[in-house]
Amino acid sequence: MSGSGYRTQSSRWSAGGWTPALLHGTSIGGARPKALLHDAGRSLIAKFASTSDTYPVVQGEFVAMSLARRCGLDTARVSLVQAHKRHVLLVERFDRIGAKQRVRADSALTVLGLNAYPSGRYATYWALADEIRNAFVQPDLTLRELFGRIAFNIVCGNTDDHGRNHAALVGASGLQLSPAYDICPQARSGGEANQAMAYGREGQRAANLAALVARADVYHLDQATARDIVDAQVQVVRDAWDEVCDEAQLTGQDRSAFFGGQFLNPTIFES
Ligand SMILES: Nc1ncnc2c1ncn2[C@@H]1O[C@H](COP(=O)(O)OP(=O)(O)OP(=O)(O)O)[C@@H](O)[C@H]1O
Ligand SMILES: [Mg+2]
Repeated sequence: MSGSGYRTQSSRWSAGGWTPALLHGTSIGGARPKALLHDAGRSLIAKFASTSDTYPVVQGEFVAMSLARRCGLDTARVSLVQAHKRHVLLVERFDRIGAKQRVRADSALTVLGLNAYPSGRYATYWALADEIRNAFVQPDLTLRELFGRIAFNIVCGNTDDHGRNHAALVGASGLQLSPAYDICPQARSGGEANQAMAYGREGQRAANLAALVARADVYHLDQATARDIVDAQVQVVRDAWDEVCDEAQLTGQDRSAFFGGQFLNPTIFES
């Protein structure tokens, strides 16, 4: 970061505004290093690399969030900037309007009436789907969005999709899903993986697209529609890959490791 500030695609960031926020930002939770910021009336979360990262986590999250948006999912807006020669992900907050006005957002754990530990381990997508049918506005549209988010988590290798990584906005007329956030491809040792929350009523949580499509009825979708959603996502990832990796300034080596590693791992296509 230069002394006079630096540019993102949409706005200019001054070093003077940035550094104090880094030092004094209050915590919003989650495992990774982050700070809260204000810029031009917007409230943002800055997510930083960690010294323990074994792959470019921040750039990977930017790629996943950007591709999710291109897949038509409702995602928090992100941009990537550099500070002290390291990438920093800026995420627009959905629990604030402008700098100050609060919007109530409850995590999926709260929506499901579960505490973080130990019952948080029992949070499931299918129970969230039931809650969506009961208490959310536009349940069918929301179920389709939830199915799309699960599919995309499989597509991009985000197995850290636990109950605090989903939230609902609480409004006068009911609940609605918050924009998706923390879609962060995870390190993968070996091939097969599991999602953090079960999407099938019998506990199915394999990171496998056919297995998810087989449970489409939980999300009020027929098999053909579910398959179309999944196929369209895979196509978007393939088509937009180079462009989004360029935006993320990923090296050739890193993008090769991501593609077929976290993103579109061959095991997700096994039938
Ligand atoms: N765009 C957002 N708007 C409002 N709140 C958010 C947003 N993104 C994240 N949060 C809140 O901040 C918490 C931490 O953020 P996030 O999940 O991105 O961090 P993390 O450290 O990567 O989390 P984890 O522990 O799941 O790896 C979330 O659980 C959520 O409550
Ligand atoms: Mg999180």
